Amino acid sequence: MKSFRITVPLLTIFLIASLTSMRFMGDPESQEKKYHYYENPVICSGCHWDKFDRWSTSQHSKGFTGDFFQAQFYEVVLPSLSLDEKVANANEDCIGCHSPTAFLSGDMIPKRTKEPDNHWSPNPETRTRAERGIFCDFCHTLDRFENNPPFNHDFISHATADVDPKRGDLEFPWSPHHETATSEIYESTVICATCHNEQNPYGVWVKATEMEYSESVFMERGIPCQFCHMQPMGGKPAKMGFIRAQNTDHWFGGGFAEFVEGAAAVYIQGEDLIVSAGEEVEFSILVKTLATGHKFPTGSVEERDVWMHVSLNNAAGEELLHIPIPLNPDDPNDKYFITSNAKVAYPSHSTLSEPIERDGLTEGDRLYHSAFLDSEGEFTFAQWLCVEEIENRFDPLEERMETYRFTIPDHLEKGNYYLTAQLNYRRMPDPLADYFGIDRRPVMEVSMDVRKLVLN
Ligand code: HEC
Ligand code: HEC
Ligand code: HEC
Ligand code: HEC
Ligand code: HEC
Repeated sequence: MKSFRITVPLLTIFLIASLTSMRFMGDPESQEKKYHYYENPVICSGCHWDKFDRWSTSQHSKGFTGDFFQAQFYEVVLPSLSLDEKVANANEDCIGCHSPTAFLSGDMIPKRTKEPDNHWSPNPETRTRAERGIFCDFCHTLDRFENNPPFNHDFISHATADVDPKRGDLEFPWSPHHETATSEIYESTVICATCHNEQNPYGVWVKATEMEYSESVFMERGIPCQFCHMQPMGGKPAKMGFIRAQNTDHWFGGGFAEFVEGAAAVYIQGEDLIVSAGEEVEFSILVKTLATGHKFPTGSVEERDVWMHVSLNNAAGEELLHIPIPLNPDDPNDKYFITSNAKVAYPSHSTLSEPIERDGLTEGDRLYHSAFLDSEGEFTFAQWLCVEEIENRFDPLEERMETYRFTIPDHLEKGNYYLTAQLNYRRMPDPLADYFGIDRRPVMEVSMDVRKLVLN
């Protein structure tokens, strides 16, 4: 680096300049970027069409425009900033991960999206730059991260006003549009950790997907996030490039049907049962996670629900009897892990919102999730206001046994019945979707098992 002597007035200007950029403290290079330092994804689409095609259906492309994010950010986060000085800048964190170039440009309350959508509209007329979400040129001009492991959008971007070299992990790439630079971060989980680990203003790890992963066998075996979430899809990474084994799918699939189905499995234990009316039946169900490189569920754990519905069905699959999970009297937290429709859940801090139903499901099912409690000890969906997490989520490859008990009702006729265990996943509870006036998320079946029960 060039050395030079600094005069006192110049030093003052430097000081003022660095004070105004205090937000980016700790970094020698200015992280104050301008929106126009980053190229529009539409430019990349010309040559990287299939990557654009896949990315534009991913949640990364909807990081800012998604209906849920829009509702939560504008209707719940902004009105809560004056609650406590700890959360006075909570909006900046949201933007840091959900629209990182808005954050780097200092646009901390971008204009609200007119039509929150679930598709990426390439029309620049109808799209602001904040609405690009987590996009190509943001990720491909990243340099490094401040922490190890990274968290809370601690990325260092190298974007400048020029067309920057695009960083990646291809061997000997050549592109007519941009220079290329090799970087190890693209094969590593650090590039994911920076946004997929989140510590909230109260010091609670409200997202810890990469930290969960780092304790798993997948980390030991060198299977990174990319292996499961960005699989190779064959073909060419760019229209005019070579066919390469490494041309990764930028779909970033997560809590969606194709990915969630089979992520875990349920196995009703034992042989077929032979019983008589009035008899008490006890049986166990083994739940095993098979395909998640982190806990299940992970990520936005305050709203993702995994639950097991157990019932006695007839041959046509119609439910005759719901079999609830018995309450465990030894665990004071068990109430958080059994579905309930009591109005005890708050969309914001409990002093700022009215309670809504917590789960909106059949009551009495085993629920695997995280309960976030606010400073009043109330259940909240507002992750930035969480002071305590209570959870019973699955570790990767964990096996867990649940035991059920029920009495065969006297009115059942003799014949064949089917004990059925269904493990389900949903991205958010219906009562929360209804509160925000957005579409309810579909229920996805993760796994099902059936055991015959003969009543004689
Ligand atoms: C969340 C960050 C992220 C975003 C957004 C992103 N990429 Fe990537 N990209 C990566 C990572 C990580 C790899 C390396 C994957 C691997 O090798 O396993 C990669 C690899 C590539 C490669 C090299 C070929 C390959 O498949 O390994 C190209 C070209 C590329 N991306 C283009 C794009 C384009 C174009 C977009 C936007 C449509 C985009 N990327 C969006 C993270 C991102
Ligand atoms: C005019 C065509 C063209 C455009 C436009 C273009 N690229 Fe590329 N890009 C290429 C070609 C060709 C390669 C090399 C492919 C190969 O060698 O297989 C490449 C390679 C890359 C790589 C891999 C670099 C490495 O070292 O691994 C990344 C990342 C990338 N491009 C990102 C982008 C992004 C982001 C944009 C939009 C801002 C973009 N590209 C726009 C043609 C283009
Ligand atoms: C700049 C921050 C950022 C980086 C870097 C990043 N992500 Fe994300 N990711 C997000 C945000 C924010 C969302 C949620 C967007 C939404 O739904 O509003 C998300 C969503 C996802 C989802 C979809 C989850 C779901 O079910 O909705 C997957 C999968 C994912 N990311 C994987 C990755 C992987 C793998 C990497 C590393 C290669 C990565 N992400 C890097 C911020 C980031
Ligand atoms: C062995 C494969 C595998 C690895 C490795 C893996 N994941 Fe996943 N991931 C899955 C599966 C399967 C799901 C769908 C089930 C679920 O929602 O948990 C998933 C779901 C997700 C989701 C959505 C969770 C939700 O329910 O909203 C995110 C976000 C995510 N992964 C990020 C990551 C990140 C970041 C890493 C690396 C630190 C990673 N994953 C490593 C398989 C993997
Ligand atoms: C450290 C990065 C980070 C911060 C800070 C952050 N988020 Fe996220 N957010 C993510 C990631 C990653 C996901 C995806 C996790 C998953 O799918 O399970 C996500 C998911 C979401 C979702 C779920 C979207 C969906 O479609 O289901 C909402 C809503 C959301 N965040 C809102 C916010 C709000 C509001 C804030 C600020 C209070 C915020 N986030 C702060 C990284 C972050």
